[in-house]
Amino acid sequence: MKSKKKTLHTLRQLHQSGTPITMVTAYDATFARLLAQAEVDALLVGDSLGNVVQGHETTLPVSIDELVYHTRCVTRGAPGAFVVADLPFGAYGGELDEGIRNAVRLMKEGGASSVKLEGGRPMVELVRRLVAMGIPVMGHLGMTPQSVHQFGGHRVQGRSEAAAAALLADARALAEAGAWGVVLELIPAALAAELTVALDIPTIGIGSGQGCAGQVLVSYDLLGLNDEFSPRFLKRYERLGERVRQAVRSYADEVRAGQYPTAEHAH
Ligand code: KIV
Repeated sequence: MKSKKKTLHTLRQLHQSGTPITMVTAYDATFARLLAQAEVDALLVGDSLGNVVQGHETTLPVSIDELVYHTRCVTRGAPGAFVVADLPFGAYGGELDEGIRNAVRLMKEGGASSVKLEGGRPMVELVRRLVAMGIPVMGHLGMTPQSVHQFGGHRVQGRSEAAAAALLADARALAEAGAWGVVLELIPAALAAELTVALDIPTIGIGSGQGCAGQVLVSYDLLGLNDEFSPRFLKRYERLGERVRQAVRSYADEVRAGQYPTAEHAH
């Protein structure tokens, strides 16, 4: 049976009932279909595609055209999913009009249900304008990967009292501007729990402990497609990398041995 289209209303109902919201990243139609069939609440077309799909060290090289393209692939593969699309580095944060134009592209050309952007108080004006236009916006605070050079690496953020207070002010400002939710990446668990209690909107954690209103992971990481990426917060639910290698090795061995294809595979 086809499940009902997931919407912002679905996520708000989950949050109101105290049910943790589940989110994973998706970048193409095939994975989007499988992930949606696994009944996650939301799919994120993250700019992490720069790392896991394009092979870059950071998310910075990802362009708005690439994000629109991957969003279109995901929404085509999972038409019933609530799809959040990232605004990539350089596509917002300067001129207000540029951010608006690019968010509209993700919705109009990509078919996204929401956009996500990194940053707190400096983004409030943009968030307000997008929400006023009817575009659901998700915030992203903490170790925001687009600022990796400013942070000097993937480091836990919000450890000092001042940094924690700044994160709280950022989160409140995003919520007041109309953001429907906020990703909290790599912040201390106690701080994430405090922000979750302080906000009316859901916090979706990654590497930020148990106290968030939901969790997000990069699908390639949770499926174990990259053996070399092992941060402390990651739990691998599969070893798909090894299974892919084994399956393709078996195929190649059989072709070389003349065991595939056989008569049953011929017309
Ligand atoms: O780009 C991404 O995948 C993300 C998640 C890590 C939250 O922003």
